[in-house]
Amino acid sequence: MRGKFITIEGTEGVGKTTNIQFIQDWLKAKNLAYLCTREPGGTPLAEQIRDLLLAPRDELVCDTAELLLMFAGRAQHLNQVIEPTLGEGAWVLCDRFTDATYAYQGAGRGMCADLISELELIVQGSLRPDLTLILDIPVEVGLKRASERSDPDRFEQEKTEFFELVRNGYLNIAKEDPERCVVIDASKSLESVQREISIALEAFWCPSEESG
Ligand code: TMP
Repeated sequence: MRGKFITIEGTEGVGKTTNIQFIQDWLKAKNLAYLCTREPGGTPLAEQIRDLLLAPRDELVCDTAELLLMFAGRAQHLNQVIEPTLGEGAWVLCDRFTDATYAYQGAGRGMCADLISELELIVQGSLRPDLTLILDIPVEVGLKRASERSDPDRFEQEKTEFFELVRNGYLNIAKEDPERCVVIDASKSLESVQREISIALEAFWCPSEESG
């Protein structure tokens, strides 16, 4: 049986790292074979593309170049890691995936959603995540948290208005695909966030019990 594909998304400073650890603990407790990976990145080549994308630079990076680099890394990651792992029956937990492209390049940069979905089809075929957890937080709160961490990368250098667009992009994705996406209020206490994540994972793991 194919493994399940779980993705975790959100704007800057939503607490993905801590909660990814929590999800891995849940997967281990269920005795599920899994692989934890990330985008952009996840293979040596895709990690090099990540470095190119995240490095602050004087040269303006045009939107099309940014979009194509995201999908170039994704193609490699899918081919080398995600597809083979799911095919072996293991679960894949991925820190960001194509929803980030719709949110950042689509809603944030204003790129055409139809173009993104054409590339999605070329690169992924019919592959989509089975479950997506979207950690949601007011932009100002997230940016403050993120700024306490390290020097800002090229995305983190964007203005608040950009991240407002990205946040709305994510919320729209969740509205359009409520079966797959669960929005978690990440401004609450860690305990409460992790309780909500557990509920979402358990409902996904055993949907029939949840529905009655
Ligand atoms: P991370 O720092 O959360 O790992 O993500 C790296 C940055 O890449 C983050 O600012 C979001 C951005 N990104 C996109 O703009 N489009 C994408 O498709 C992905 C996967 C990430």
